[in-house]
Amino acid sequence: MALKNIFEKIISSGSIFNNKQVLQANHYPSKILHRQEQIQEIAQTLAPALKLEKPSNLFIYGKPGTGKTLCSKHVALELQEFANQKHKPVKTLYINCKLRKVSDTEYRMLAFMIKQAGFKVPATGLPTDELYNMFFKIIDKKKQLLIIILDEIDNLVKKAGDEILYNLTRINTELSKAQISIVGISNDLRFEELLDARVKSSLSEEEIVFPPYNALELQDILQERALKAFKKGVLQQGVIQKIAAIAAQGYGDARKAIELLRVAGEIAEREYSAKVTLQHVDKAERKIEHDTIVQAIKAQPKQGQAVLYSMLLLDKQHSKTFYTGDVYSVYKQLCLKTGLRPLTQRRVSDIIAEFDLLGLINARVISKGRYGRTRDITIDLNEGLKKELLNLLARELGF
Ligand SMILES: Nc1ncnc2c1ncn2[C@@H]1O[C@H](COP(=O)(O)OP(=O)(O)OP(=O)(O)O)[C@@H](O)[C@H]1O
Ligand SMILES: [Mg+2]
Repeated sequence: MALKNIFEKIISSGSIFNNKQVLQANHYPSKILHRQEQIQEIAQTLAPALKLEKPSNLFIYGKPGTGKTLCSKHVALELQEFANQKHKPVKTLYINCKLRKVSDTEYRMLAFMIKQAGFKVPATGLPTDELYNMFFKIIDKKKQLLIIILDEIDNLVKKAGDEILYNLTRINTELSKAQISIVGISNDLRFEELLDARVKSSLSEEEIVFPPYNALELQDILQERALKAFKKGVLQQGVIQKIAAIAAQGYGDARKAIELLRVAGEIAEREYSAKVTLQHVDKAERKIEHDTIVQAIKAQPKQGQAVLYSMLLLDKQHSKTFYTGDVYSVYKQLCLKTGLRPLTQRRVSDIIAEFDLLGLINARVISKGRYGRTRDITIDLNEGLKKELLNLLARELGF
């Protein structure tokens, strides 16, 4: 179709969307559904701040897309507003630790917090101790309660260690006027192994778990968004139910559910369809799965790509099931061809296990008695995708 015709068609067909923005990841919904209990618990934990009593530190955990960020921000905003109205010296500070420039070192984190308080710090160069002193002085100037929300706190600990948490949770004994409470949020509990036992226990004086959403809850969340996002009558019967069921079968992730609705809408629009149908949902599911896999593979280091390429070659050549040893032989030949430095078989075996976790392959560990252990591997993808990935990896590896 000539470009002109595509554009003409788009204009004349009109949009099925009313306000697509409400389906974007950064949209802040006006209603939060099915999280009343968690919101109240957070509020009750933090409320003593209004009486100038230090709230317990709080740790919030739950799988991705269960509303942790949304609910914490919501409570923090309302608390801040209320405190301002009543002239209570409460300050909430929200920090997303996934932002590299903010939290990949102790220094950057401190500098960021000082900047939030309205003071300037050089981007590098001062001793960390001096930054701590500055921070102490700034916040201890007046009587106040500072609530620091560290979202995706696992990122902070993995990159910058737990020193800063240790210091922040100990700081109150040294402050004379101000007090600090920490709210840590994470969807990954593994970082707790990296924490000093004392940090761990003080960080979770209180704990709140966000359970995954079930299908009915997801339906309500989707319905609310759909009402604003689409023109009336655009969604075919059952579309919302189907998306909710798919997302509930996964991890009860509201983000994924909303994304699926958006992509289904985009596909319908691209097909000039007046309705979003159940077939569009199927297509959207496949597209998201496909894009996720391709992105994950592009993000792999060369070594990982070479290991996966070896497995795809084995699968293509003959065997539908093969073993770690087979992968390793093909991989070593590949290394020779590409000039990649070969890793040990043990490392390659670890990489295979990572692909298993990603869900690209099925690797079952089997014992071979005194010859040790190996993995019995099959590839879990459809033929079309396997072919596409072989081509993609060949390009990435420079064949
Ligand atoms: N109860 C809800 N009502 C309306 N929208 C919701 C609800 N819960 C989550 N969402 C939406 O789903 C998306 C994911 O929510 P949120 O970012 O709070 O998840 P999270 O638990 O912080 O996930 P992660 O662990 O990945 O950071 C957001 O777009 C949010 O607006
Ligand atoms: Mg979050």
